[in-house]
Amino acid sequence: MTWRATALTLFPEMFPGTLGHSLAGRALREGRWSLDALQIRDFATDRHRTVDDTPCGGGAGLVMRPDVVDAACAAALAGEPEGEAPRPLVYLTPRGRLLDQALARELASGPGVVLVCGRYEGLDQRVIEARAMREVSVGDFVLSGGEPAALLLLDACVRLLPGVMGGADSAEEESFSDPRGALLEYPHYTRPAVWQGRAVPDVLLSGHHAAVAKWRREQAEAATRERRPDLWARHAARQHETQD
Ligand code: ADE
Repeated sequence: MTWRATALTLFPEMFPGTLGHSLAGRALREGRWSLDALQIRDFATDRHRTVDDTPCGGGAGLVMRPDVVDAACAAALAGEPEGEAPRPLVYLTPRGRLLDQALARELASGPGVVLVCGRYEGLDQRVIEARAMREVSVGDFVLSGGEPAALLLLDACVRLLPGVMGGADSAEEESFSDPRGALLEYPHYTRPAVWQGRAVPDVLLSGHHAAVAKWRREQAEAATRERRPDLWARHAARQHETQD
């Protein structure tokens, strides 16, 4: 069964966007996943095709109407292939749980996703609750809409689908994938051996596999300790657990 993605958006032309030029784009053309973008405005019922309204209680901006968004959700979920589990509705919002590799893996292992992209101040809370949407953020910053966040989530999921990654185990070895504890990756080098007076570390040219592995492990640990004390603390706690 192909992994199916549907984006609900006011800007369907933003899909597949930059994804079309990457590994995910090739996988899309190869039929390893599918992508539809539905125009939310098509589900408005008044003659002005209104999708938003002023916030109750006052304040700046506009809120997307629950009835219009609900109708778009219903359309996306109608006609799911026979016998297939319903896809989760994922609403991209800075109020959501942070996207991480575990969530990408979870979503990639399911039937697909319906991605709800908000504009303006976002969705009316009632449709988020009524549709049991999973709220997901891609970072502690505010984008002008959910679309770039949705593309990012798709990229993270699609590269995990069977047959998408080029190298056999490259998806496994990378940062955050190591089930023993997420560390940042070690630095990479290629030829020439000396470039602008900078030499490739000797150990990488030594041919000693064990020494290379040890050096990479140390580099990964040092980078994580220095750059991401939050990840380092989690890693250290997990190491401690497994020793008990
Ligand atoms: N929409 C606006 N900002 C966002 C963010 N940081 N993550 C997900 N969706 C968003």
